[in-house]
Amino acid sequence: MYRTHTCGELRLADASKTVTLAGWVQRTRDLGGMTFVDLRDRYGITQLTFNTDSDASLRETARTLGREFVVQVTGKVIERQSKNANMPTGEVEIFCSDLKVLNGAKTPPFTIEEETDGGDELRMKYRYLDLRRNNVRKGLELRHRMAIEVRNYLSAQNFIEVETPVLIKSTPEGARDFVVPSRMNQGEFYALPQSPQTFKQLLMVAGIDRYFQIVKCFRDEDLRADRQPEFTQIDCEMAFVEREDILQAFEGMAKHLFKAILGKEFNGPFLRMSYDDAMRDYGCDKPDLRFGMKFVSLTPALSSGEGVDLVRGKGFKVFDDAEVVVGINAEGCAGWSRKQTDALIEFVKRPQIGATGIVFVKWTEEGLKSTVDKFYTPEVLQQWATHFGMKQGDLLCIMAGGAEKTRKALNELRLHMGDALGLRDPWTFKPLWVVDFPLLEKDEESGRWHAMHHPFTSPIPEHAHLLESDPGAVKANAYDLVINGTEIGGGSIRIHDRSMQEAMFRVLGFTDEDARYKFGFLLDAFEYGAPPHGGAAFGFDRWVSLFGGRSDIREFIAFPKNNAGRDVMIDAPSRIDDIQLKELGIVVKG
Ligand code: AMO
Repeated sequence: MYRTHTCGELRLADASKTVTLAGWVQRTRDLGGMTFVDLRDRYGITQLTFNTDSDASLRETARTLGREFVVQVTGKVIERQSKNANMPTGEVEIFCSDLKVLNGAKTPPFTIEEETDGGDELRMKYRYLDLRRNNVRKGLELRHRMAIEVRNYLSAQNFIEVETPVLIKSTPEGARDFVVPSRMNQGEFYALPQSPQTFKQLLMVAGIDRYFQIVKCFRDEDLRADRQPEFTQIDCEMAFVEREDILQAFEGMAKHLFKAILGKEFNGPFLRMSYDDAMRDYGCDKPDLRFGMKFVSLTPALSSGEGVDLVRGKGFKVFDDAEVVVGINAEGCAGWSRKQTDALIEFVKRPQIGATGIVFVKWTEEGLKSTVDKFYTPEVLQQWATHFGMKQGDLLCIMAGGAEKTRKALNELRLHMGDALGLRDPWTFKPLWVVDFPLLEKDEESGRWHAMHHPFTSPIPEHAHLLESDPGAVKANAYDLVINGTEIGGGSIRIHDRSMQEAMFRVLGFTDEDARYKFGFLLDAFEYGAPPHGGAAFGFDRWVSLFGGRSDIREFIAFPKNNAGRDVMIDAPSRIDDIQLKELGIVVKG
């Protein structure tokens, strides 16, 4: 037996037991005739002692131990003289009578402690060392617990987990495919699934009724903190359902996870918001509702013309020429210095945001003061203040320009202010369903329609007849689950009728032949008794990182890729040799 106990379990009640432990040397300290070693494993750290008086040669061996050596020790559990209240094992130590070095270790490239001194690339190159750290290991444990809870919950609701293939034909989810060349069918390629979308729909045609899968998906797209080229979804589909059934089912799953993992209860239904309202009030389709600063428009609404114009016609060209003038009220920020407000302007001028500036209105003890006092009288400023529900002590940040760009930029500013004011507490959770997305969006360059969710999403029933005559007006029967400004999941009620699916492909610019070549199997299946169905998929990595209180999903993936899509530990992607290329019938240029 390598060990009788782990390094995290011995307590005062175990005193006088003889035990054997195995683990990694965290550190060694010499003190007089004694050597102390902190021995670590997955479960904790236990202090070992070696004493010259009782065994001089054993103590000498202990002194030669380097960091991360793998050792096995046997000894007696004794009460510690100087106890460490910060460690669960801090009341005891092992008075060692035997020490075996199971394996040596080179000095690690960074320290293996709570906070490491290794940069990102170094941590990833030696990920097996990084994973020895508590923080990182805890992330994997959280992931494991969440997977178990998801499986238990969905199984109890009659969902069954079905595996779907990984070598498939393209599933359009809006990214590029990763492709795999076929040796047996030269010149032909499999695509790796961007999601199991078509398979789960086929499972509904097959009568499976309630399907789920915790599944790897692959997307060749630009990477960010919440995007990896291979990531995991909790993928689900149900037959004989309407939107409401799906929202109920997965709201149930979300509430179960909140309760089981974080001990948080949600009474009442999650908030719902239409896509149009989200865009108008927050400038994005995944608003962070942990804080206010809802957008307030100083110009009439574009679509309806509703609302008053409080800015135009006073000689301030920026506002006169703008399609929209819209702002947020930063409560309690009137005292911000010029330096601080200048920094906000610099922030929105960054190329990624591309705004031209911000107009500020402060309400201090001296009254209302703005950066556009030349154009607007105190009476007009007072009108603005009333319109915003502003109080003394507040600061208005107002932006102007083209509708879409200005709202997008103001969304960035709002989130930035939320961060600056500490309003985005990771342990406060504001879940939200965003519903009624447009079915299609137009690519301005090519003039072509794209499915906003994917081509299998159905229009809301009342808009079905507009699909070919007025595609831009059609709302989708689609929904996203947004928590704290992150899109955790999304889904839709699907088209299950061949002719409507064909119409959808036509709107998307597919020829009939193209549609048949790419999705003939699905169109065919719809002619053999396809039930009405719908579903959703949740980004598992994102959900785990949300519950782990960190925004970078790589922290919760054992072996992630870097931002260039590389695994720097195994050095992939990499070249393949000429024989393999020849077998595949591939010639690499350059
Ligand atoms: P969608 O494309 O919205 O829907 O994906 C579902 C969820 O997966 C997560 N996600 C990602 N997570 C990490 N890295 C990525 N690159 C990445 N891309 C997406 C997000 C997202 O909400 N088949 C449909 C679902 C359906 O209609 O049922 C789909 O895949 O959290």
